[in-house]
Amino acid sequence: MRDLKSKNVVVTGAASGIGKATAELLARRGARLHLCDLDESKLKDAVAPLGTAVATVRRVDVSKRAEVEAFAKEVETSIGGAVDVLVNNAGVGLAGNILETSLEDWEWVLGVNLWGVIHGCHFFVPKMAAAKRGHVVNVASGLGLLAAPDVVGYATSKFAVVGLSESMRAELHAFGVGVSTICPGIIDTNIVQTMRYKRDADATRDRVVALYKKRAYPADKVASAVVDAIEHERGVVPVSPEAWAGYWLKRFAPSLAAVVSRVAAKQARPKRPNPEAARTDR
Ligand code: NAI
Repeated sequence: MRDLKSKNVVVTGAASGIGKATAELLARRGARLHLCDLDESKLKDAVAPLGTAVATVRRVDVSKRAEVEAFAKEVETSIGGAVDVLVNNAGVGLAGNILETSLEDWEWVLGVNLWGVIHGCHFFVPKMAAAKRGHVVNVASGLGLLAAPDVVGYATSKFAVVGLSESMRAELHAFGVGVSTICPGIIDTNIVQTMRYKRDADATRDRVVALYKKRAYPADKVASAVVDAIEHERGVVPVSPEAWAGYWLKRFAPSLAAVVSRVAAKQARPKRPNPEAARTDR
């Protein structure tokens, strides 16, 4: 899809970070935007500078089936058919290992990061396939390509999004609908402020926020990769050197990748672990 002018584009999680930067870039390309986020007031602030490029602004919790269904109906009714591009971007972060992660944490992270993407695809893609055109972008992560320790719930959600996207890409080819999977590395956004930390929360948050600030890789570069993926029908797209390193390591040296993960897990382990007491909730 070389020309995004006047194309109807949905972006979830558009109030902050990668979603906000993507909406801004798409507005500059002349797209008509249909934006949603869980945080309504932040979304309103984010869309204010985008002017007439914005056609729809809604508070939507992507983990809630009925809310995404209503959003899809509203957008499709207002434009009289299928959207041209769907960017499933909304996501949350969760730091913790298998011993620390509660079932509520699992439901939360999979609810937003996996079910949010499934809901977007379920409710928007049928009309795209019927129209025999369009493009879906699912924002996964470098952690969906190479599993790191201490983010077990997050990595699970992102591996699932990679698998979902690759299956969809094969299935929808015959319908003229492209599917791209964006796999960013360490991107300086608000996600590290809002994410759940299951161990030494305050200290870990401070450390991770400082690391992301120091890395200073901007969300704009991911937005450019999203637009490039739509324009050039790309498949899996790692973004940032660390995401590419993980991609190549897993493909060409999988045993080394496993050793790297094990060493990192050992370093991250608490000094005196008590596996049976690690979960603070259920
Ligand atoms: P962010 O926190 O800046 O933006 C995420 C947006 O999603 C926020 O505006 C938030 O309100 C919204 N959101 C959260 N839960 C929602 C829900 N249930 N329904 C609707 N909206 C919801 O984070 P960032 O970094 O821009 O994240 C965007 C995507 O990029 C996520 O899927 C994330 O997992 C992914 N990603 C981010 C990386 C990073 O280093 N920042 C690295 C790899 C992937």
